[in-house]
Amino acid sequence: MRKLFLTLSLVTCGLFVNAQILQSPDKHFILQFNVSGKGVPTYQLTYKNIAVIKPSTMGIETKDIASMLDGFTISDTQTSSFDETWSPVLGEQKNIRNHYNELVVTLTQKEQKDRAIKIRFRLFNDGLGFRYEFPSQKNLNYFIIKEEKTQFALHGDHKAFWLPGDYDTQEYSTMTTNLSEVRGKMKAAVTPNASQTPFSPTGLQTPLMMKSKDGLYINIHEAALVDYSTMHLNLDDKNMILESFLTPDAVGDKGYMQTPHHSPWRTIIVSDKATDILASKLVLNLNEPTKFEDVSWIKPIKYVGVWWEMITGKSTWAYTDVESIQLGVTDYTKLKPNGKHAANTAHVKEYIDFAAEHKLDAVLVEGWNVGWEDWFGKTKDYVFDFVTPYPDFDVKELHRYAASKGVKMMMHHETSSSVRNYERHLDTAYKFMVANGYNSVKSGYVGDIIPRGEYHYGQWLNNHYLYAITKAADYKIMVNAHEAVRPTGLNRTYPNLLANESARGTEYESFGGNNADHTTILPFTRLVGGPMDYTPGIFQTKISAYNPDNDSFVHTTLVKQLALYVTMYSPLQMAADLPETYNKHLDAFQFIKDVAVDWDDSYMLEAEPGDYITIARKAKGKNEWYIGAITDENARTATIRFDYLPKGKTYVATIYADGKTASYDKNPQSYAISKVLVNSKSVLKQPLAPGGGAAISIKEEVSAETKKLKKI
Ligand code: NOJ
Ligand code: CA
Repeated sequence: MRKLFLTLSLVTCGLFVNAQILQSPDKHFILQFNVSGKGVPTYQLTYKNIAVIKPSTMGIETKDIASMLDGFTISDTQTSSFDETWSPVLGEQKNIRNHYNELVVTLTQKEQKDRAIKIRFRLFNDGLGFRYEFPSQKNLNYFIIKEEKTQFALHGDHKAFWLPGDYDTQEYSTMTTNLSEVRGKMKAAVTPNASQTPFSPTGLQTPLMMKSKDGLYINIHEAALVDYSTMHLNLDDKNMILESFLTPDAVGDKGYMQTPHHSPWRTIIVSDKATDILASKLVLNLNEPTKFEDVSWIKPIKYVGVWWEMITGKSTWAYTDVESIQLGVTDYTKLKPNGKHAANTAHVKEYIDFAAEHKLDAVLVEGWNVGWEDWFGKTKDYVFDFVTPYPDFDVKELHRYAASKGVKMMMHHETSSSVRNYERHLDTAYKFMVANGYNSVKSGYVGDIIPRGEYHYGQWLNNHYLYAITKAADYKIMVNAHEAVRPTGLNRTYPNLLANESARGTEYESFGGNNADHTTILPFTRLVGGPMDYTPGIFQTKISAYNPDNDSFVHTTLVKQLALYVTMYSPLQMAADLPETYNKHLDAFQFIKDVAVDWDDSYMLEAEPGDYITIARKAKGKNEWYIGAITDENARTATIRFDYLPKGKTYVATIYADGKTASYDKNPQSYAISKVLVNSKSVLKQPLAPGGGAAISIKEEVSAETKKLKKI
C-alpha cells in the first residue's frame, strides 16, 4: 500500500507543496495532485512514463460569491482501493470489473471562512476519472456556476477525431485533423442542422478521441451527467490545452447548485492499443449501480419501423397537406388525406406481419399522432398531445393485432423540443402507452428548445431527459431518446434507457450521406458514453429507389450494414429498411434475424479509429458468436481470430462477405454467403471492399452435412 499512495513534499521547487501521488492498480498510470503557490488545484497524469496530461489547473468560477479557483490548501487526503465485479442488466459483457485506487483531497479556502470542496480521483487500469464535490456547509449552500475551469494540458498536437462544440447538436460529420488545424476547419465542420449553437472557433465536443505522435490513444469525456450542464472543451491551440466549457442556460448561467452536490466525472481513457479504448468500461464504472429493484421488464429489442420510408421521402409523417392546417382546420376527419401517410392501420399491419414472421420484437410507428402538419420550423409551444391518433391509425385494433402475433408496439413521441409541453402530457402519454400495449418509446427533440433560449445540453434539459427516463420506469417503459444529450453511462443506473441517438445516425445517408469512415470512428467517440440507436440494416443503398427526387446513397456496402449490428453496440437495434426490400434479400437478412443484441462477452480483435474495426461477441446465454468487421473507404483484409471459442470444439461459421467487385460507391449490393468450419485455432484473412465489411455468425450446428465443409 505504501507504494500506491505517496505524499511528496517538493517544497524545494516552490511550485508543488504536498504533492499527492496515486498509482493505477497495474501501476501504468500515475496521477499527481498538488496546489500551486497561489493555492491553485493542479493535477497531472502519466501513462507508462509519458506525461499524457501535463500540469493542469482545476476549479470553479462562480457568480456572486468568491470563486473556487485559488487560495486553497490541502486540509485532508483519503486514499482507498476498490475491486468489484458487477453485471449490467443489458450489455457488451456479463461481468464488468470495477477496479481502481482512489484519492479524495479536501481543499480549504481559508480566506473564504474555511469554505471547503473535495476533488475525488479514481485511477483505473484504463484511465482516470475525477469530479468536484461540494459538501454541505455553513459557508456554501446555494451557488451559481459561471464556468468550470478544468484543464487538460496535452503533450502534443495530437491527431483528433472531433465534432464542433455546440450547445444543441452532435449531428455533425467527424473531422479528422491535428488539433492545430481545428480553427482552420471549424467553418467547414459546422454543417446545417435543425437546431445548432456552435460557441467557439476552437470548441469541441466530447467524447473527444485523440492519437498522439508517440502512439497513445486518448479519450476525454464525462460520466454520470446528472443535474449539471454538459461539458464541452475549448482548445487553446497555442499551448494545446483543452479547457472545460459548460453549456449555459437562457440567461447565460452554467449551473445552479445547492450543496451537497458534485460535478459529473471528467474521464480520460488512455492506452497504447486502440482496442483498449473500445473495451474500456471506465465510464460505466463511474456511474452508480441501479437502484431499480425489479429489472425483469427491461429487455433488449430488435425492431422494424414505419420510419425509413418517411426519412427517404417516400411517405410522410403528416396525414394531410400543410395548407389545410394553416387554414385553421383542426378536425382531421374533415381533411383530405395526402395519400402518402404511412402510419395507417393496414400498412402498419404489414410491418407487424413481417416482424412476426421473422421473430423481431417490436414495430415502431412514427407519424401516428396528430400535429405533424403544424410543427416543423414553427417553434410553437403546443403541437403534440401524444395521445390523439390520425383518423387512419386505429390504436386499439393495432394493439389487438400486434398482441395476437406476439409483437410489441414501440411508441413515438416527437416532443417538437417543446419540453414544457411534453412534461405537461408525460403521465397521460405513458398511461396511454400502458393501456395500449406499448412498452418502449422513441422520443425526439428536433428543433430549438421551448422554453426559448434554453439549449439541448443545458442543466435544465439534462434534468428533463432524466425525468422522462425515471418517470418512464414508473410505468415499466424503456426509452430511446433522439437529439437528447449524448450519453454518459447513465444506462448503468437507469437501465431502461436502452439507447440514444445523439450523433449523426443512418438517417443522414438519406440526407446526403455519412462519410465512409463514419462508423469506424463512432465507437471511439459517441459510443464511449453509451449505446446508440444507429438504425443500420439498409439494403437498398440507392435512396432514389424509394424517392426519385432523392439522389443520396448509403456510403457502405450492404454487407457493412450487417457488420454494424456487431460493431455498433446497442441493446436496441433496428432493421431499418423496408420489408419489401428485405424480402428480396432474405439470405442476407438472415444475419439480422440471428444476430444477438445482448452479450456475455465481447472481444475487440483489431481497430484503428477512422480506418477499421473488427469485433467478436458471444450471445447472452447461448453458444453463438457474431463477428463484425468494417473498413473505411479503403479495401482491406481483416484478420479474424477465433481464440475465444471453447478449445477443442468445431463450429460452423456463416460468412457474409462483400462480393469480389463490391464497393460502397459503385457496387454496394454485391455479396456472397458461405459456410466454413472453425475452431479456436482458426485465423481468417477476410477481404473487405472499399466502404465494406464482413459479418459472421458462428453456431454449433455441426451435422453430417456441415462436416463436409472446408476447415479454416
Ligand atoms: C429525428 C430522429 O432522429 C428521426 O429518427 C425521427 O424520425 C425524426 N426526428 C422525427 O421525429
Ligand atoms: Ca436525429
